[in-house]
Amino acid sequence: MTEPPPGPPPKQRVAFDPIPEWAGVTTRLVHGGRRPELNAGAVAPPIYQTSTFHFPAAHSESADRGGLYLYSRLENPTVEVATEILRQLEGGEEARLFGSGMGAISSTILSLTRSGDEVVALQDLYGGTIDLLTDLLPRFGIRVRFVPPEANDAPETVLRPETRLVWLESPTNPTLTVVDIARWARAADAVGALLVVDNTFATPINQQPLSLGADLVVHSATKYLAGHGDLLAGALVGPEALLRRIDTKSVFGATLDPFAAFLLARSLRTLSLRVERQNENGRQVAAALARHAAVRRVFYPGRNSPVEEAIAARQMRGRGGMVSISLRGGAEAVDPFLKRLRLFHVASSLGSVESLVSAPGITSHRHLSPEELAARGIDGSVVRFSLGIEEPDDLVRDLTEALDASG
Ligand SMILES: Cc1ncc(COP(=O)(O)O)c(C=O)c1O
Repeated sequence: MTEPPPGPPPKQRVAFDPIPEWAGVTTRLVHGGRRPELNAGAVAPPIYQTSTFHFPAAHSESADRGGLYLYSRLENPTVEVATEILRQLEGGEEARLFGSGMGAISSTILSLTRSGDEVVALQDLYGGTIDLLTDLLPRFGIRVRFVPPEANDAPETVLRPETRLVWLESPTNPTLTVVDIARWARAADAVGALLVVDNTFATPINQQPLSLGADLVVHSATKYLAGHGDLLAGALVGPEALLRRIDTKSVFGATLDPFAAFLLARSLRTLSLRVERQNENGRQVAAALARHAAVRRVFYPGRNSPVEEAIAARQMRGRGGMVSISLRGGAEAVDPFLKRLRLFHVASSLGSVESLVSAPGITSHRHLSPEELAARGIDGSVVRFSLGIEEPDDLVRDLTEALDASG
C-alpha cells in the first residue's frame, strides 16, 4: 500500500490571548476569551453553528486529531469562548459548559458517585437537585442524607468516613441562609469527601467557592451569568484532574448549543455591572421591606443572625439581588399582593435584568409536603424576589404601593 502524500501539518488549536495579570474582574470579563487569530480577526467571537467539522482525508475519527475540532457535542470554538471566560471568573483550572444547570448537576453527581457511597446534602437546595438526589441516586445504591440548617453549626459532626460527596448552596433558596463554605470544606477534607457548591445565587462576582476550599463549583448559568432570561445553560469549574472524572459531554450529552454559548459569552461581558446594581437593589429593597408593617419577616443574606452576618461579611463581596419576605397577612395575602405589583413579573427563575417575583411554596418547592416546607422555614406566606437592574427607587415604590394596599 502506498503512503498518502504528506498533507499540511495538523492545525493546533489557537490559544486565547493572555490577559495582563494585573487586570481586574470587569476588565477580564470584557477581554476574556479573545482569539482573533482563529476568528478571521473578528473582535466579537463568531458563532460556529455547526454540529460537525471537516476532517483532512488522512485522518479518521480514531486517529490523533492534532488539535482539530471533531464534533460539537465534544468541542466547539464558540462554546470554548464562554467556557474560558467562566473559568477565569471562578478562578479554576478548567471549566465545562452544559445545556442547563441540571445538566451540570446530574453529570457531576452521577460521575462522581457509585454504589455504596454516601452523599450528604444541606436540605435547602434547588428542587431539581433534591429530586435527583431523592429519586435517582437510591436506584444506583447511593445513599443520600439530607441535613438540616443546624448542621451548619458543626459540619464536622455530620460527615462520616463513607461520605464521598457533600453538596450545598449558599445563600440558600428561598430563605437566603448563608452557609460557611470554608468550614464545610475543612470538614469534607477531613473525611476525604469532595465538596461541591452550587454558586448560582451568589455569582462568582460576589463569592468564589474554590478560593474558600470547595472542590468544584456548579452554576445554573441560565440565571445571573446569562442574565437576560433568554437561554438555558449550566457550568462546572474546578481542577483539571477532577473534571477529567466527570462526563461533561460524551455520554450524558448535556452539551451547550453554540448559539446559547454565544449569547452567554456576550452576557458575561456585563456580568459585574449587572451584579453590582443587583447587589445595590437587594440592599435597598431589603431595608425598605423591613420597615413595612405588612411584612412579617425579611430573608436576606446575613439577616438571620450575627453569626451569619459574620460569615457573609467574610465570604461574600456583595449580598446579591435575592430577597424573600413573609407576609403578615398569611397565604391569603400573597395572590392580591402579586396582582398589585406593576413592574415585577410573576415568574419562577431568577438573575435576569427584569425583576421577578414568585411564591416558592407553589413553584420551586411545590413538590415538598407541608411538613417538609415547614422544616425549611417556608410557609404559604413566603414570597421571593429576584431583583433586576431597574432603578432602586422604582422597585421600592412598586413594592411599597402593593404592600400599602395589603393593609
Ligand atoms: C440554585 C439552582 N441550581 C440549579 C438550578 C437548575 O438550573 P437550570 O434550570 O438551568 O437547569 C436552578 C434553577 O432554578 C437553581 O435555582
